[in-house]
Amino acid sequence: MKIAIIGSTGQLGTDLMKALNYEHEVVGLTHQDIEVTDYNSCLILKEHYPDGIINTAAFHKTDQCEEEPLKTFSVNAIGAKNVAAISKEIKATNIFISTDYVFDGSKDSPYTEDDTPNPLNTYGISKLAGELYTKQNPKHYIIRLASLFGIAGASGKGGNFIETMIAKAKKNEPATVVNDMWMSPTYTKDVAITMKKIIQSKLPYGPYHATNQGYCTWFQFAKEIFKLSGLNSTLTPTKTEQQRMKTRRPRFSALKSIKLSDYGIKMREWKLALHDYLIEKGHTPGNQPR
Ligand SMILES: NC(=O)c1ccc[n+]([C@@H]2O[C@H](COP(=O)([O-])OP(=O)(O)OC[C@H]3O[C@@H](n4cnc5c(N)ncnc54)[C@H](OP(=O)(O)O)[C@@H]3O)[C@@H](O)[C@H]2O)c1
Repeated sequence: MKIAIIGSTGQLGTDLMKALNYEHEVVGLTHQDIEVTDYNSCLILKEHYPDGIINTAAFHKTDQCEEEPLKTFSVNAIGAKNVAAISKEIKATNIFISTDYVFDGSKDSPYTEDDTPNPLNTYGISKLAGELYTKQNPKHYIIRLASLFGIAGASGKGGNFIETMIAKAKKNEPATVVNDMWMSPTYTKDVAITMKKIIQSKLPYGPYHATNQGYCTWFQFAKEIFKLSGLNSTLTPTKTEQQRMKTRRPRFSALKSIKLSDYGIKMREWKLALHDYLIEKGHTPGNQPR
């Protein structure tokens, strides 16, 4: 297959390039190559004439999204609309990357593909709009992810949570992390492998949740990062209400797939994925980066 990846140098895009490169003809499109908010710029997709288009582009700094709703909708929703229109025209499969933030967090167990979205903030609302536009091409996959970490680090967020925690510990700075917000930490390398299986196995079109198994609070995640990397850190749990966050976030946004297991696709536990990531980055005791 010929597959175009929008956002090919981003955190997920980098791992998608690696995972798909061997068996497929992959066209990596950076932000310099394509501006998803601009339909004319998206016409580059037509020139490449791919069988599938993966759209990882997003404006996803949650607090900034609240302050800049026009930009947020422009990238996350209108961008998805443009890609949906062109993919439909060239009969390509349209693959949109979405988020756990389409849910409101009122559940006490992981959200599945059967749950109804009800986003709390501008980022989540714009991504849900992106999902709806994506459906305008019936040949679509909506891949919902959560709390990503990847070797490249999120370009839109300036790194990832793991690197922030490790940098703090190395500077002997104490870390205070919320212990009442639950999520599914997810390694982009594992997402890329899962997406490859979804595409290659030609699974039925529709939404899929693709996160590492299990869930934890951000405090528990930080605790595991320090344990596995052998770093001493002063880590203190706190509550979201004490953090005075600018933006409403779901209290519980863990995801689970009830569809992938039907096709024999199972993602590993988040702790195993985290350990693998730390080894790859040379963050475990006595290790150099691979
Ligand atoms: N990070 C998370 O924790 C998380 C959680 C759930 C879902 N997601 C979703 O997962 C996807 C990938 O996230 P990520 O962490 O890999 O993000 P990322 O590292 O910020 O990658 C996004 C890529 O898209 C490009 N891009 C941004 N705006 C664009 C535009 N208007 N037109 C064309 N390209 C544009 C960026 O290029 P530049 O950097 O050069 O602008 C970057 O290469 C996003 O759709 C996000 O909503 C992320």
